[in-house]
Amino acid sequence: MSIKVNYNNVMKHAIGEQGIPEIEYKSHQLLAEAAHAKVEAGRGKDMQGWMDSPYNQKEVVKQINATAKRIRKTCESFVVLGIGGSALGPIAVFTALKHLYYNELPKKVRKGPKFYVIDNVDPERMNALFDVIDLDKTVFNVITKSGATSETMSQYLIIMDMLVKRFGDKAGEHVIATTSEFKGNLIKIAREHNIETFYIPEGVGGRFSELSPVGLLPAAVVGIDIAEMLRGAREMDKKCKTNNMWRNPALALATIQYISIKSGKNIGVIMPYADSLKYIADWYAQLWAESLGKEVDSEGNKVNVGQTPVKALGVTDQHSQVQLFNEGPYDKVITFIEVGNFRNDCTIPNGCESYPDVNFLCGHTLGELMNSELFATRYNLVQRHRANYTIYLDTVDEYHVGALLYLMQLQTAYAGAMFDVDAYNQPGVEGGKNAAYALFGRKGYEAKAAEINSAKADDDKYIIE
Ligand code: PA5
Repeated sequence: MSIKVNYNNVMKHAIGEQGIPEIEYKSHQLLAEAAHAKVEAGRGKDMQGWMDSPYNQKEVVKQINATAKRIRKTCESFVVLGIGGSALGPIAVFTALKHLYYNELPKKVRKGPKFYVIDNVDPERMNALFDVIDLDKTVFNVITKSGATSETMSQYLIIMDMLVKRFGDKAGEHVIATTSEFKGNLIKIAREHNIETFYIPEGVGGRFSELSPVGLLPAAVVGIDIAEMLRGAREMDKKCKTNNMWRNPALALATIQYISIKSGKNIGVIMPYADSLKYIADWYAQLWAESLGKEVDSEGNKVNVGQTPVKALGVTDQHSQVQLFNEGPYDKVITFIEVGNFRNDCTIPNGCESYPDVNFLCGHTLGELMNSELFATRYNLVQRHRANYTIYLDTVDEYHVGALLYLMQLQTAYAGAMFDVDAYNQPGVEGGKNAAYALFGRKGYEAKAAEINSAKADDDKYIIE
């Protein structure tokens, strides 16, 4: 396993008063052990079905690979319809593991369909999609665990209407559903239209579902080795079997974040130094925010915990947010993701000898520049007593990406246990969902609609036209 975490720079010995004294870190061993025990006790149960994902999908992987093989042969475009945990994982893994201009490559180089993820209900984006795909040669993968999410179901209805108009009772052949076997409407609709379906296990929630058919089918369709991703997750799981926070990387990271958050570091920056990992930051932001941002603990006490994730990209954000990270409030922990070996590199050519201020770049590679800039940024942050840690990946491949995702899922689960909150629910998003249902006149939401209609109107005094 060539993933390592280096958290020297959150410790007092590196960043002084802003850091965690070793004695304080050690004093959390019991809490860490308890969190580890709680997560292990829940393995495979309730909403912790995701911990079984690396182990129990042999058959599913076979089926997914068979379907993917067929799609790769016959389709020109593969479109994921989903939102939140049903979209962010597929985007992150596709970007991490495929050519960064994959869709622009000629078909014989791609060897698979073009790949799109429509994770919003912006009408312009939806219509733009119809401008670039050929309906005859497209498969739509509608992904929703609940089988009820308004955004995804709206997209599905628009697509299905077009498909039925074009293909009649064969419309279902152009759709694959990924959903719960037991809940929601999508499964019923899928059966009605003879739509091929993959099931999301009951104990696997949206943001913990990338290593289930939610992520595995889209990945396999673009030619990603999903068995290897699961192997990476298994290896990470093994590494995290110990409850010793000096040896379990996910437990160490959960513990340092717990201590940091308790001491007022309410912002968690996630900053990969690789374009391929840019959307891992988006995926992690949802995982961390939606899992830990909670009003009450397990006993119903009001706690209002959480850490606001901020996405950044190295080196791009060195010319943007890093100014704030260096000189703004001491309210952040920065997570760097470093890649040891880029899959290919670019040498900066010689030939600028008469301009020494440019010539110093010549003969080096862009990979060297990227990682030197990471080193320099991290060094500067340490000089300014700014808390940061690094997750180091030897290279970006299926194995390491599977391991990284699992590491972050475990870190989140341990942190949830430490804060004693339910990392698997999201009651905070229900209010907005219900209000939207009421505005759309959904049956059963009449009282909400009345409440909205009687709400105090905005005061014109605070509106400037
Ligand atoms: O993490 C979660 O559970 C959510 O973000 C969901 O993924 C999101 O709301 C979409 O839900 P569904 O897959 O049911 O459409």
